Amino acid sequence: MIILGIESTCDETAAALVEDGRHLLSNVISTSVKEQALYGGVVPEIASRRHCEFISATVKKALLDAGKTIDDVDAVAVTFAPGLIGAVLVGVNFAKGLAYSAGKPLVPVHHLRGHIAALYLTHPELKPPFLCLVASGGHSHIVEVQDYTHYHILGHTVDDAAGEAFDKVARTLGLPYPGGPSVAAAAKTGDTKAYRLPVPHVEGKYNVSFSGLKTAVLNEVNKAQMKGEEVNVPDLAASFQERIAGILAEKLLLAAADTGAKQVCLAGGVAANGRLRQLVNDGAQKLGAKVYLPELKFCGDNGAMIAAQGYYQYIAGHTAGLELNGLPTLPI
Ligand code: KG4
Ligand code: ZN
Repeated sequence: MIILGIESTCDETAAALVEDGRHLLSNVISTSVKEQALYGGVVPEIASRRHCEFISATVKKALLDAGKTIDDVDAVAVTFAPGLIGAVLVGVNFAKGLAYSAGKPLVPVHHLRGHIAALYLTHPELKPPFLCLVASGGHSHIVEVQDYTHYHILGHTVDDAAGEAFDKVARTLGLPYPGGPSVAAAAKTGDTKAYRLPVPHVEGKYNVSFSGLKTAVLNEVNKAQMKGEEVNVPDLAASFQERIAGILAEKLLLAAADTGAKQVCLAGGVAANGRLRQLVNDGAQKLGAKVYLPELKFCGDNGAMIAAQGYYQYIAGHTAGLELNGLPTLPI
């Protein structure tokens, strides 16, 4: 079964064809990230306008790259929530029009379910149940994936998402957007012990909080400025990355130990972080759990993950009519 997946929740306009939820046929991503970087973050209006410009050619190329036409597609899957609403609506309305005109079923997909399904593309042998940390620009959830369409959230951030913390810290340090890759790059030559950053206290055993950590980085910058000095950017980036990756890995592994999870996974944009991947790998091995990490190209937003999850939503009977609407927020 071939599913066309369409994604437009943030600054990536993406489309892909995936067979049976596991086999990638094509994967096309158009992005406004360079333009967004001029403003230090995503400007929703710019994202929406670029989606309108890019979406038709992006979907066409996804079909072309796979050597298929819309007639070969069994269903059109689209991210309908959560995300920047103006951006989400571009994908949803395009998918509605395409599904209607081609006479294909329309399958709504939750963005975080999509991030989790990116794992199926990298690891065809992976099957639920498994434990997954989904960390992106908008979310940080520790999720028990019970089966392909059932989830139980064990923990979440009580304030900033992990990716958001990377983006804000990057801005504080004068590093470019998106913050995750630029903080990670700066951290390469830094000393992780140079700055003593706090471990924020948070209610809830598996919850995380990054707002205090972000403020602690800002305080270091302000403290240095008051002394007429400058912070050492690689050192502060390394200290921050070590702390945030440490907190995320610790909470995931704590949840894995408590629940006896045999399979531990990462998903979402922040899953591209090398230090986080290393800590989870090492820790899970000690627990005797198998680790599954998404290929780097499937960590950030893409259409393939939506097509992969779209397959599982479709075979579970979750289709929608033309009344489908986009939503800015929605629990997984
Ligand atoms: O999943 P994603 O592409 O979009 C959302 O759903 O939000 O995640 C984007 C987030 C951004 O905040 C970005 O800074 C972060 O993922 N990110 C990283 C890395 N690459 C991207 N964070 C840490 N380390 C990275 N290497
Ligand atoms: Zn995402």
